[in-house]
Amino acid sequence: MKPVEKQRLAWALTGSGHYLRECLDIINQLLSEQVDIDLFLSKAAAEILQQYGYKHNVGRVYQDKTASAVPVEMFYYGAYHTVVIAPTTSNTVAKMVCGISDNLVTNIFAQSGKCRVPTIVFACDTDPEVESEAPRENMVMVYPRRIDLENTAKLKTFEATTVVSDMPQLNAAIQAQLVKL
Ligand SMILES: Cc1cc2nc3c(=O)[nH]c(=O)nc-3n(C[C@H](O)[C@H](O)[C@H](O)COP(=O)(O)O)c2cc1C
Repeated sequence: MKPVEKQRLAWALTGSGHYLRECLDIINQLLSEQVDIDLFLSKAAAEILQQYGYKHNVGRVYQDKTASAVPVEMFYYGAYHTVVIAPTTSNTVAKMVCGISDNLVTNIFAQSGKCRVPTIVFACDTDPEVESEAPRENMVMVYPRRIDLENTAKLKTFEATTVVSDMPQLNAAIQAQLVKL
């Protein structure tokens, strides 16, 4: 096994506009506190970041370019102490609860589970009604379906997985992990 100098936090973004800005604010805040973060983007996340025009300060960014999700190899070397998937689309949550790992982010979830790396997920579909940010800062009402809410509930039963439903909970769950290091 290759030696890992210092474990980092793996943060995966999916193609969600909901709380994207707030998640990037947390990432940038953690970076300013010298937390080492690698960023993983689903294909949709890469597009959504451009659409919303949001920026982040992460140096190491992995895009979803390979069929086998090559970057997940780093989980086998113990490169990460924590995984955060936030915000998480209903699409990615559905795949994760079905055990599907067919892209970079769903592979990260599968491998973090198999390698027993604690994982924190902010699923977009937390409530039957949510106010969500569309591109150009328009706010829209979104009504997650029963299947979306059921999938979020199922995710809470997964081992080594903490599902949070707002930004204070996300911040608290990350800080709880960081103090353990
Ligand atoms: C502007 C825009 C905003 C979106 N916001 C959300 C969202 O908040 N939640 C969600 O579940 N899907 C959202 N989507 C749809 C996802 O991007 C789409 O389902 C995509 O296939 C998800 O891929 P991924 O789960 O691999 O990232 C949005 C799409 C667009 C174009």
